[in-house]
Amino acid sequence: MHPSLSFDQAPPISVPYRFFLAAPWFGVMAGILLAFSGGDAFGSRWTPEALALTHLLAVGFMLQAMCGALFQFIPVAVGGNVWRPKLLANTVQPLLLLAALLLVAGLLFSRPGLLSSAVPLFLLAVGGFVVAVALALWRTPATGMTLWAMRMAIGGLAIAVLLGTLLAEALARGLALPIVDLTNVHLAWGLGGWALMLLAGVSYHVVPMFQLTRPYPLWFTRWFGPLLLLLLLAWSLRIFVVDMRWTMAVALPLLLLFSAYAVMTLWLQFTRRRKIDDATSLYFRVAMISMLVFSISGAGVLLHPGFAEDPRAAVWLGVLALVGVFVSSLSGMMYKITPFLNWLHLQRLGAPMSAVPNMKKMIPAGAMTGQLRLHVLALLLLLAAVWVPGLARLAGVAFAASSAWLGWNLASAARRYLVFRDQIRAIALHP
Ligand code: HEM
Repeated sequence: MHPSLSFDQAPPISVPYRFFLAAPWFGVMAGILLAFSGGDAFGSRWTPEALALTHLLAVGFMLQAMCGALFQFIPVAVGGNVWRPKLLANTVQPLLLLAALLLVAGLLFSRPGLLSSAVPLFLLAVGGFVVAVALALWRTPATGMTLWAMRMAIGGLAIAVLLGTLLAEALARGLALPIVDLTNVHLAWGLGGWALMLLAGVSYHVVPMFQLTRPYPLWFTRWFGPLLLLLLLAWSLRIFVVDMRWTMAVALPLLLLFSAYAVMTLWLQFTRRRKIDDATSLYFRVAMISMLVFSISGAGVLLHPGFAEDPRAAVWLGVLALVGVFVSSLSGMMYKITPFLNWLHLQRLGAPMSAVPNMKKMIPAGAMTGQLRLHVLALLLLLAAVWVPGLARLAGVAFAASSAWLGWNLASAARRYLVFRDQIRAIALHP
């Protein structure tokens, strides 16, 4: 067991599992939607299909996986006490699921009623989650940059969702708001202030532990989160400052910061002593390479006006961020957390250690690496489909298949938990 983890307060296994088991199916829906819509979906970032696909991944796949991971991570890694985790998860998770589906349907079919009905559900579900998690994160006696990153990330989630609901209402009611600028600020808080902040904070803890690397340098963890926060605040001023020089002055350092995180993580992986290339470290490598390509492409779009004029440039960036960075890193993370959850909860049943199966038996390594390969193929096809629309349907099918395989692998881990649990209970009854 790792010295910096405390398992006494870990929530019931059903809490993280209910989020993890739902997440991949949003990826399946996204793949099927793309397979049906074909190349037109990627024509620009504003097509109804592109907006729906974005949110199937952002508030479907990502939000489910990240909330599930936080429920597990807060008590175990930073000693925070989330209030009534089972009740909270049983309420928040189905509400989020329904809210995500309504939002996606509202964006896809341009239905104001559906957009408006998603708003209170998001406010309730995310509001409840943010309050409970923020209390746990502020009350814990723990210290360290992972904790600070998590505190900032939860603030980022609140801002992103508030802006998202404002946008949804603006679209539904035709409010006169600067929609494009608001959208750009909303997406920066959603992908940067929430998703990347959390990913980085959790990486400080889990990359050295799970991938056996050296720790991130202290100067890096001290500066990354606060700089990201400052730059996002500066980026948000674009609602008031309509100036291309301002956008450049903020966006270029932001892209540099993303690259610094990617290069640092790749460097730590490259210089580790024991090179075990399991699905988690490979998934992280895919995510970090995608982040680097995102940063280089983003700089290209900013510095070369010709690129920016092509509406597909933004779609290319979206695929890299959503599928390349976040679906990859979260899949890798879930592949590490679920076998560990099984092992932890099985050994808590009080059986002798010899009766608790090894973590490697929870999800077969071949199934994880096979799924990873299909995911990489799907990512490459999606990127190619941005420029060759004829490939969009194939890319959609590949992404749906790889997400379904992920869902299957996670579900089989949950099934194995139940089988082993029953075996251990039977041994306890008839020793
Ligand atoms: C916290 C997670 C979220 C993330 C990461 C996120 C991400 C994004 C991104 C990347 C875009 C730009 C899409 C594009 O340019 O194609 C966007 C736009 C948008 N988002 Fe979100 N979003 C989140 C939550 C929400 C929520 C909770 C709502 C509403 C309840 C929402 C409503 C919208 C709307 C209405 C747009 C703009 C549509 C338009 O201008 O036509 N988002 N979001």
